[in-house]
Amino acid sequence: MRVDIREKRYKDKLALKDVHVVFPEGKTTLIIGTSGAGKSTLIKCLIGTTSYDGEVTDYQREHIAYIPQHPALNVRETAQDAIYWSGLFSRLYSKDELNKVVEHYVESMGLQSVKEHEIRRLSGGQQQRVSIAKELIRGKSIIIADEIDTGLDCGVSRDLISKLCNITHTENKTTIIISHNIVNIELYDRVIVLVKSSTKCGRITYSGAPEYIRDFFGVDDYVDILSKVNATDEGGLGEADYFIRKFSDYREKRAGHI
Ligand SMILES: Nc1ncnc2c1ncn2[C@@H]1O[C@H](COP(=O)(O)OP(=O)(O)OP(=O)(O)O)[C@@H](O)[C@H]1O
Ligand SMILES: [Mg+2]
Repeated sequence: MRVDIREKRYKDKLALKDVHVVFPEGKTTLIIGTSGAGKSTLIKCLIGTTSYDGEVTDYQREHIAYIPQHPALNVRETAQDAIYWSGLFSRLYSKDELNKVVEHYVESMGLQSVKEHEIRRLSGGQQQRVSIAKELIRGKSIIIADEIDTGLDCGVSRDLISKLCNITHTENKTTIIISHNIVNIELYDRVIVLVKSSTKCGRITYSGAPEYIRDFFGVDDYVDILSKVNATDEGGLGEADYFIRKFSDYREKRAGHI
């Protein structure tokens, strides 16, 4: 999936400018950024729920699954039934195949021990996994999730992301996750950092492997990245403009999309 957003405006407010990135198949991408830097706006451009000046190419709209922070599930259904019905309605499987595929996604999303439980009895993290399994069984290949691990405890959020990474790698999915849980950064294949420029416009300042990100921003600890680029929530302060330029120079040298 290739993204070329020249500009995204909300009326006269410039929300995003010059976002040119590729989301590769078989890889997980984490999007981090200060509040108001345009993370959710970028996702809206990807899923096509807002207009913008630019193009998103190399993908099929019907292959996208969007997972919201609070999934709409039928809470009286069991986890297994929810996944089963989603698979049945997809019409992708024969009757014999379907039970096996349901089992596969129950297992790969770590829902084995709770599959007979009604969804209302599941934890937030387990409900998220049901929601993801429902999309995967429908054959969706691009999984886009906005803050799905917000409010989950550290272990649960790590577990959720690890499972998504495994399935992304083994089934060649394209997974894009917005998260504030920077502690899991090393689990992802790629990281995109969005910040607010001094004019409060959302700009990209990093797109690449997590290994090089501390070096790029000159920090010892991942948690210091965002406070360094946008020292206050309002933007305008911090070193955002410096890193926007640094990234843009770096990208020019590497010629285009990275
Ligand atoms: N529907 C809208 N109409 C007008 N302005 C909007 C709209 N949605 C977002 N914005 C503005 O666009 C900018 C980016 O918002 P966005 O929600 O994409 O940020 P975000 O990075 O997801 O922030 P957060 O981490 O707080 O969720 C903000 O300044 C926001 O106020
Ligand atoms: Mg948001």
